[in-house]
Amino acid sequence: MKKNTLKRQLIQTQDGSKTLLINDLNESYHSIHGALQEANHVFIKNGLNLINDYEINILELGFGTGLNVLVTFDEYLRNDKNHMIKYFGVEKYPIIFEEVSELSYSELFPNQIVKDLSLKIHETEWEKLVELDVNFHLKKIKDDFFNIKNMDLPPMDLVYFDCFGARVQPDLWEKEIFEIVADKMKTGGLLTTYSSKGSMRRALIELGFEVEKKQGPPGKREMLIAWKK
Ligand SMILES: C[S@@+](CC[C@H](N)C(=O)[O-])C[C@H]1O[C@@H](n2cnc3c(N)ncnc32)[C@H](O)[C@@H]1O
Repeated sequence: MKKNTLKRQLIQTQDGSKTLLINDLNESYHSIHGALQEANHVFIKNGLNLINDYEINILELGFGTGLNVLVTFDEYLRNDKNHMIKYFGVEKYPIIFEEVSELSYSELFPNQIVKDLSLKIHETEWEKLVELDVNFHLKKIKDDFFNIKNMDLPPMDLVYFDCFGARVQPDLWEKEIFEIVADKMKTGGLLTTYSSKGSMRRALIELGFEVEKKQGPPGKREMLIAWKK
């Protein structure tokens, strides 16, 4: 995917939250059935909420609009900050400030702290672990997913695998990328994704993951989670 194919347009999804659509590829950053609902279902209900440890290192592919950071932070506040979270978001093609502001993600969260973060997370320095709250740090990494293998990262408890679909980026759903990601995960770590693609499922099983099918977010029958054994 070349940078010049990434002309984006703002669209509204069915739960009222907005997302970006890449016109030329007809591919959106989130489900058109509901961006916020999808983020909460895939990454919180079937991700963060399944991890019991106090310290949680999260790796996200890719950071995009930052919505997954916001739902994660919102959940951290709901749980009275009883986790220590370090969040690493990898992104090669950051969105621009105009897009951040048009997405109006502050409107999705009643809590003023999360509202304020909806802009702040895009202003923080790249490549630097920044404190968003006493127990919540964010590092944005501007790089290619395949370069994760060369990154100095702590062992990950949780991976938000939120790449564009295989129709537009087939190489991101094959064994090589899952091997790279698995190498950065703790034994017992969890990978969650909105997809239920067969090639991904087979690759994860080959890599020794225990894969579970879950009910998908609105508009999607199934999704997968996978535990690293
Ligand atoms: C489905 S969207 C991300 C959605 C994001 N989690 C959000 O909530 O907005 C996929 C993201 O992967 C990024 N991306 C695509 N190819 C990449 C690559 N090879 N390396 C790093 N980032 C990439 C895109 O720019 C896009 O932001």
